[in-house]
Amino acid sequence: MERRKPAKKGAARQNAGKPKKRAPTDQATTALGAVPEKRGLKSAPTPKNKDPAASGQREMRVNVKTAKKRKLSSTLWLDRQLNDPYVSRAKAEGYRSRAAYKLKDLNDKFHLIRKGSRVVDLGCAPGGWLQASVEAGAAHVVGIDYLPMPHVSGSAHLELDFLDEAAPGKLKELLDGEADVVLSDMAAPTTGHRQTDHIRIMALAEAALDFAIEVLAPGGAFVCKVFQGGAEGDLLVRLRDNFSSVKHAKPKSSRQDSAEMYVVATGFRGNEKMTGEKIA
Ligand SMILES: C[S@@+](CC[C@H](N)C(=O)[O-])C[C@H]1O[C@@H](n2cnc3c(N)ncnc32)[C@H](O)[C@@H]1O
Repeated sequence: MERRKPAKKGAARQNAGKPKKRAPTDQATTALGAVPEKRGLKSAPTPKNKDPAASGQREMRVNVKTAKKRKLSSTLWLDRQLNDPYVSRAKAEGYRSRAAYKLKDLNDKFHLIRKGSRVVDLGCAPGGWLQASVEAGAAHVVGIDYLPMPHVSGSAHLELDFLDEAAPGKLKELLDGEADVVLSDMAAPTTGHRQTDHIRIMALAEAALDFAIEVLAPGGAFVCKVFQGGAEGDLLVRLRDNFSSVKHAKPKSSRQDSAEMYVVATGFRGNEKMTGEKIA
């Protein structure tokens, strides 16, 4: 056991009456707004030059301890959130979600949203893509999500399930004309059953593409979240039939350990679009 040095004689008397100085701590305020130690979290220094999000650098890594009442999956989620440089960057730069950087990355690469563009955002909550669309200069931005979210300045949104029969019609009313870009970041909560999750995301992608084909102006673009192997089967055939270019992309801001990627279809054929059946 380490022995402590005996206190100097008279030191206690000298310090009597002075306010006690607290030992400096390395605590960082976490992305959830609380001091980690207070929430059962432990902070430790992050190795230098390891942080990929340039302006969202965290000085400290927050180690999340397991807690009796918390499921392991929640602990892992909390650990990822607290140590994700894009989460702190989004908070510092005023974006509703780290997802905003994914659209920014895609837009930098594919030049989808321009000044004056008309944009539809499917699965828009909490609003990061709406913000990024407005910021990119879009003139008309509409979105839909079944989750409630506060209004994003420069856009309008519906709180409705996109798979609801009435949703496409209501969204078209809000759009009031053609769209230049249809975005879909929709994702149903995962079940953990791979096949079920795959079927669900493909159903959302199919519904998003149906809508895009109805509202896009010729030359327009469609971006849709897909998982694992990307767009495939019937969806891929329909994309290739209706767009002059179909590519897959994983934005650098998308978590590397996530299977998510995006299919980016540009050059909507509009009136010359085909149905997938060969014309004799
Ligand atoms: C990854 S989040 C979107 C994040 C958003 N792009 C942003 O930048 O903040 C996926 C969203 O899709 C929504 N979603 C999933 N299925 C939907 C559906 N059938 N109708 C409407 N929204 C849906 C979810 O509620 C969730 O908010």
